[in-house]
Amino acid sequence: MKTLNLPGPVAKSLIERDRAVISPSYPRGYPFVMDHGRGVEVWDVDGNRFLDFAAGIAVASTGHSHPEVVKAIQQQAEKFIHISSDFYHPKWIELAEYLDRIAPFKEDAVSFMTNSGTESVEAAIKLARYHTGRTQLIAFHGAFHGRTMGAVTLTASKPQYHRGFFPLMGGVTHVPYPDPYRPVILNRTDEDAGSAVIRYIEEEVFAKDIPADEVAAIIVEPIQGEGGYIVPPASFFPKLRALCDRHGILLIADEVQAGVGRTGKWWSIEQFGVEPDILTTAKGLASGMPLGAMIGRKSVVTWPKGSHGNTYGGNPISCSASLATLRLIETGYMQNAARVGSYVLERLAEIQADHPSIGIVRGMGLMIGVEFVKDPLTKEPAVEVRNLVEELAFERGLLTLGCGRSTLRISPPLCLTQAEAEEGLEILEDAISVAEEEVDIYPQREEVRIAQK
Ligand SMILES: Cc1ncc(COP(=O)(O)O)c(C=O)c1O
Repeated sequence: MKTLNLPGPVAKSLIERDRAVISPSYPRGYPFVMDHGRGVEVWDVDGNRFLDFAAGIAVASTGHSHPEVVKAIQQQAEKFIHISSDFYHPKWIELAEYLDRIAPFKEDAVSFMTNSGTESVEAAIKLARYHTGRTQLIAFHGAFHGRTMGAVTLTASKPQYHRGFFPLMGGVTHVPYPDPYRPVILNRTDEDAGSAVIRYIEEEVFAKDIPADEVAAIIVEPIQGEGGYIVPPASFFPKLRALCDRHGILLIADEVQAGVGRTGKWWSIEQFGVEPDILTTAKGLASGMPLGAMIGRKSVVTWPKGSHGNTYGGNPISCSASLATLRLIETGYMQNAARVGSYVLERLAEIQADHPSIGIVRGMGLMIGVEFVKDPLTKEPAVEVRNLVEELAFERGLLTLGCGRSTLRISPPLCLTQAEAEEGLEILEDAISVAEEEVDIYPQREEVRIAQK
């Protein structure tokens, strides 16, 4: 397969300038320097074309620069750009009404607009404490909830998010996430990984450590994102909801990555038939304009005037972009995510059959993870293979992003066509074949291949 010579000269010189003036803390992977994009296609500053299976970390939900989103931004910019959250404007109200209609609550929904995922999570933390009058929060290992001080305390996907930043916020306890492929807690014969985690919270955390009646909320990603695109067992959420109800604990669904139609439903928690009390969103909500929201059941959003706010909340351009985004998702892209997502999962299962380095393929809609292992029996993570696949895919014109220890995430715009999916997967398979040759991950590879057939 043809490879690109990357980075090109223009990209190289821009990266040098970037290095001099931009914080070195950003986790840049490979040297992609964007020039422009349309739909699922993007071009770098040297004129190289790529398919974007990363969508700016699951953000460009309607594709790059969708004409309707661009038009909404332009029209609003002509009228006014900012007025502050001290006042009112129609697009903000219209957006909150839209969110009320699609929120996964039977009860009415009330929204607090933010500028990012982490800010939505901060709002959820504060509201949960305010509303319940309790201090403690429970989050999951592998979780990613953001990088501001409260949210980063809930985050537990890599130690570097905490290194050098202690002391973090008090009152947070982490428990294992129910990963059916790598269960941390041994489950009894009559239960699965999800039920085992619920039992652990009751029998170990509540019975021995944290009084349940001091817990304000349990915050959870319905499908864990940064932690490895992990789908919990079906039993988990109904049991988690029941546990919260037993103890008067709020359930916060962090939908920043998995929400807004990505899994084929508006909210990924709907895949599990459970209602949260608070939901956090951002990323795909406005196709890349900075916008997030904390959406709560009306009876939970009890904080009074002045208790929480922000300068840019409900920014009119972001709200306009979001309204255009939500209409596009509702009228086709959400259904497309389910349809093309199933196709991608099927094709990846075929690819897996020929590639022993793939331990598992999992996901819903267009939120799909491919986890690489050194050995399918020991499941030792093949970090080198994943990193190399990401790099080789880039050289072949495909943008992807890693997550977890050795998972590659596939999170393209929701407008991905089957033909684009096929083109991207061909590149991905070639990258996997080359990576498997280059990293001798598994000496008995041939035997496994034969055994798998
Ligand atoms: C589930 C989840 N929550 C919160 C965040 C934080 O969002 P942001 O980077 O916009 O602050 C992310 C970002 O990746 C996320 O995936």
